[in-house]
Amino acid sequence: MSVYLDNAATTPVRAEVLTEYTKYLQLLGNPSSVHTSGQLVRQALEEARESLAKTIDCDRSEVLFTSGGTESTNLAIKGIYWQRSAENSKRNVIITAGTEHHGVIDPIEWLEAQQSAEIVLVPVNFDGEIDLDWLAEYLTADHERVALISLMWANNETGVITDINKVTALAKKYLIPVHTDAVAAFGHMPTSFKDSGLQAMSISAHKIGGPVGVGALIVSRSTKLVSIIHGGGQERGMRSGTMNAPAAKAFALAAEICIQNLHSEIQRTQLLSDRLVAEVSAITENISLTAAKANRLANITHFTLAGASGESLLFLLDQKGIFVSTGSACQAGVNRPSHVLIAMGRTEDQAKGCLRITFGHDNTEADVECVIQELPAAIESALSAGLSSQ
Ligand SMILES: Cc1ncc(COP(=O)(O)O)c(C=O)c1O
Repeated sequence: MSVYLDNAATTPVRAEVLTEYTKYLQLLGNPSSVHTSGQLVRQALEEARESLAKTIDCDRSEVLFTSGGTESTNLAIKGIYWQRSAENSKRNVIITAGTEHHGVIDPIEWLEAQQSAEIVLVPVNFDGEIDLDWLAEYLTADHERVALISLMWANNETGVITDINKVTALAKKYLIPVHTDAVAAFGHMPTSFKDSGLQAMSISAHKIGGPVGVGALIVSRSTKLVSIIHGGGQERGMRSGTMNAPAAKAFALAAEICIQNLHSEIQRTQLLSDRLVAEVSAITENISLTAAKANRLANITHFTLAGASGESLLFLLDQKGIFVSTGSACQAGVNRPSHVLIAMGRTEDQAKGCLRITFGHDNTEADVECVIQELPAAIESALSAGLSSQ
């Protein structure tokens, strides 16, 4: 028996999506070929683009298929930075926050180290919320130097949601482009691109029941960016490389199912999370819900455990066949405290004691029962291991 509760890291591919994926893998042809065989593949790709655009609430021409979230965030950040700083060399500031995913932080730090970009971090409070008043003041004083703003729509570790419309409203005054990493948000909360005022938005299929290795960058029609991959000029010249029609089809179907069931899934996973939080908080006063006061995604629940390491808890639960995480999968195996919790004002020790439980479409009440049954003993062992290592 095993219980998978690490859906923010990756989700199981839905059965219907797998069927769609394998069906289109059997089509032969390069979507750029002019013969009928290639054009059938092109048709499948364009159907996927059209269908995905509906789920995102954007125009089909605004969808650029990529290999996933990390490629999308890199293309948005480097591409917009290069475009804007080439237009005006005074613009070298990138505004972001310390709680962002490495897929955003690392390309920005690369631009700082290699290309003289300046990073400006919006302060984050104890609950992981960004300080919008501070952002407004910063923009009033220094907007001329800003190349772009990149702030995530929802955090993948804590589930904290940013009011992205407020960010774009502030930036609009100065015509500053805003990119959002919506990898954790898309498919788990309403994310209309049209209503958001965003210029770019990154999404990924494997977080919503689609396959790994396909994502999209949504770029508004008026936004210019410099490509980071050069070659055959596919995807409006912004992302060269033969387009992956089967993966695009699978992604589009996964998104369609998610968006169709969005409101019922939010309600369902919220009930699972509420039950989990109530039961887990009653085990010991050492464990508490992180970012309890913030607006959060229903499917991500993050706990802070005082006096024990999250890694110990993870391994103890793993032995019982329960798969959870301490934070971002990209840092798993690296015994470093979460940079997200550090940015939220935790000490290194506090940031090491965390447990993230994330629900997906196939988790049930029985999975919650299972983790609730096993957690008290696991917490007790992790706490005594924590005490003995002091
Ligand atoms: C918030 C966030 N951004 C970006 C990524 C990277 O996406 P991908 O795994 O598709 O490259 C992830 C994946 O963990 C994520 O959670």
